[in-house]
Amino acid sequence: MGPFREEIESIEQNGITSIAFTRMIDPEVIPLWFGEGDVVTPAFIREAAKQALDDGHTFYSHTRGRIELRQALKRYLDDLYDLDIHPDRISVPGSAMLGVTIAAQMALTTGDRALIVGPVWPNIEAVFRVTGARLSYVRQRLTTMGWQLSAREIIDAVTSDTRTIFVNSPCNPTGWIMKSAEQRELVSFCRDNDVLLIADEVYHRTVFDGDKAPSFLEVTTDEDPVVVINSFSKAWAMTGWRIGWVVAPKRHVTAWTALSECFNTGATVFAQLGAEVALAQGDGFVRELQAQYLAGRRLVDQALGQHPLFNYDSPEGAFYVFPSVAGLTDSLPFVKDLLAETDVGLAPGYTFGPGNETHFRLCFAHSLPRLKEGLDRLVAFTERRFGG
Ligand SMILES: Cc1ncc(COP(=O)(O)O)c(C=O)c1O
Repeated sequence: MGPFREEIESIEQNGITSIAFTRMIDPEVIPLWFGEGDVVTPAFIREAAKQALDDGHTFYSHTRGRIELRQALKRYLDDLYDLDIHPDRISVPGSAMLGVTIAAQMALTTGDRALIVGPVWPNIEAVFRVTGARLSYVRQRLTTMGWQLSAREIIDAVTSDTRTIFVNSPCNPTGWIMKSAEQRELVSFCRDNDVLLIADEVYHRTVFDGDKAPSFLEVTTDEDPVVVINSFSKAWAMTGWRIGWVVAPKRHVTAWTALSECFNTGATVFAQLGAEVALAQGDGFVRELQAQYLAGRRLVDQALGQHPLFNYDSPEGAFYVFPSVAGLTDSLPFVKDLLAETDVGLAPGYTFGPGNETHFRLCFAHSLPRLKEGLDRLVAFTERRFGG
């Protein structure tokens, strides 16, 4: 048996890094496998972090995040969604991933059940597995109207041992966005049944109709059992900074302070000062990225949208597509061969939870010429395999 828990002994590397680590630093590869683009964090944000270091911001900060950053987040969220969020609800423990990890630890222990809306990014699944909880999935369906899932379908998948529901909207990998009325119905169910809803909104500004996705914050009171997770990674191109935030029930202010203390002792301080400037001055940049991702989506629409070999839906948000290929039963050998033969890197479907084996994920947050080249190679390879 040894000293380690079974969940740790049996944990597996996710299917994205399993493939990507084999050729990660190879400049020949067009890397459409990870969830980030090739735009560097803008200079005004980088300069703020450099300045913070020069100004001596090298000490511990408040474990829920600097008060200035929490106030800036409150202003940002209040303005964006027309709310008045209680300041005790906002914490900055570190990355969004850390926020999901802490939230999962707050609700789940061995024998509990977590219900996950799939397809889902594999790191999320690992977070829940490590708690010792059992996992169930309720999967979006690819229909002629795009990826669909109602609140009622999620609620119908809840069992008596379900303690937590995880929803990611806009969704990595499908781009599905949950409508506000559906969010309201789900929050109401969680409120009435003491289920913790963990809502991952890291793609809240990566949408193709309007400027933001509906947020669970808009349908949640100060004490509802809902933790909304967000991040600077995607909207401000700050993936390597490892900084995000959570909005949690007000009564848990002490718990977030204490847990943040034991997980990370608060987020990196100079990254926090960079994040403050991102919020203060970054809206133009957020919109530039939105325009670039819209152009990226258009390229993918053109390449795969009408192609008879791809079962494809144009995403509403996030910066991925998650098609399946006619005649393909397992996308793992497909993406391995694609990489070996054409130097294009994609993520295999199996790693996004059950039922996704015939799909693959492609990230289109890349400069357009490189994305176009990657798409051309993908289409040519697929036609060679399955007939044009
Ligand atoms: C759904 C989802 N949640 C969370 C994250 C991670 O966010 P962070 O970089 O802040 O940890 C990602 C990154 O790809 C993601 O796709």
